[in-house]
Amino acid sequence: MPNDTYYTAIDMGTTKMCTIIARVGPEGELKVLGTGIVPSQGMHKGRVENIPETQEAVRSSLDEAQKYLGRPITWAYLGVTGNHISCVNTTGLINSSGRDNSISTRDVEHLIRSSCSPVSRGKEILHVIPMSYAVDGLRGVRNPIGLHADRLQLESHVVLGDGPILRNLVKAVEGCKVSVRSLVLQQIAAAEAALTEDEREVGVVLVDIGGGTTDVVFLKSGSPWYNAVIPVGGMQVTRDLSVAAGLPFYAAEELKIRYGHANPEAIPADEEVQIPGYQGEPKRMVYRRALCQPIYERMTEILKMVLSHVKEAGLRQIPPGGIVLVGGTAELPGLADLVARATGSPTRIGYPDGIMGLPADLRKPGFATSVGTLIWGIKHQGQSHPVISSGDWAFGKQKSWFGKFRRKPEEVAA
Ligand SMILES: Nc1ncnc2c1ncn2[C@@H]1O[C@H](COP(=O)(O)OP(=O)(O)OP(=O)(O)O)[C@@H](O)[C@H]1O
Ligand SMILES: [Mg+2]
Repeated sequence: MPNDTYYTAIDMGTTKMCTIIARVGPEGELKVLGTGIVPSQGMHKGRVENIPETQEAVRSSLDEAQKYLGRPITWAYLGVTGNHISCVNTTGLINSSGRDNSISTRDVEHLIRSSCSPVSRGKEILHVIPMSYAVDGLRGVRNPIGLHADRLQLESHVVLGDGPILRNLVKAVEGCKVSVRSLVLQQIAAAEAALTEDEREVGVVLVDIGGGTTDVVFLKSGSPWYNAVIPVGGMQVTRDLSVAAGLPFYAAEELKIRYGHANPEAIPADEEVQIPGYQGEPKRMVYRRALCQPIYERMTEILKMVLSHVKEAGLRQIPPGGIVLVGGTAELPGLADLVARATGSPTRIGYPDGIMGLPADLRKPGFATSVGTLIWGIKHQGQSHPVISSGDWAFGKQKSWFGKFRRKPEEVAA
């Protein structure tokens, strides 16, 4: 009987916890076996603020996901975010002058490790992603293994996070008797699920607008090269609406989902909507356009912050692949249009793609990170935190990865 490999991804969001358990069969085929989507608690903008509450949310997400599995899962990949995240691009060099042999996998692994400069106290390395190699001065080489050369240089993208904040996230999961095999930056995960090969190659900006944070990653030549986390998201939009309309948060959230629009101009000037009576107030009619004005203003503000990172990264313009929006807030009607008009760049909403049998619940922009964490885990199997990325990005192994799984961290008879 063939053996299957089980993978679990946990996405600890500010508004929802999502666990996905999937099986990769012997032919590389993937099947989702369970999902657990529950409201989040104890989290604030990617940080754990209350361990027992967070643990409880993680536990109920895990319980739901493994309901029909028949055995508890023991390890998982964990997506992380927060404005403690920073990134830097570094270079490493090895000289093999006088050596007769060609560049080996060990050489490359050594180079990847050495390209990561010492990190400051309290910081942890989340990823070291090889971007491109230069072989005897020839730049842009993606896979130098096997080449004869005197000098091998590597440019890496290094992602760092705050040690205590990361440890608290891990603690919340480990409190549920699940060990964390590796941490994954959420926008890097989302890029795995929502971008096309072409977008990654020509250059693209992926923006994950969640509940508590807006996570940004720039990719080019197949690799992430700039990451940022903006501590504002959809909850702030709801808060603005709640202040503007004089409503409790939960009521403003309901209205946002029902009538929200990123571009008030697109709504007929005379369209009215009913605000139900909350907390003893009578119900009332308001112009939908007026209701959407604070939404437009907050989304414009978030977009400005995203564009400030384009500048900070040294880009004069958005790359040709344009902007891909994911995260729950990307479901806001009119948002892609607003962003496209404001930036003059092609903009689309990104959906988790590329997995056969993905349940309809997960085929939404808000689950790009959750699905991406699973895909990232499968691609980078066997790695544990602190992580050195295997170099798939730089080696251009994005295609047909389902068929490539050989090493099996956990084998279970089917
Ligand atoms: N149709 C919709 N219109 C507008 N906003 C929406 C819609 N659907 C969901 N949202 C918003 O998306 C946000 C949640 O997005 P998501 O699930 O990506 O967040 P999260 O992963 O929990 O948080 P984070 O990644 O920031 O920690 C909420 O603020 C919610 O109001
Ligand atoms: Mg999220």
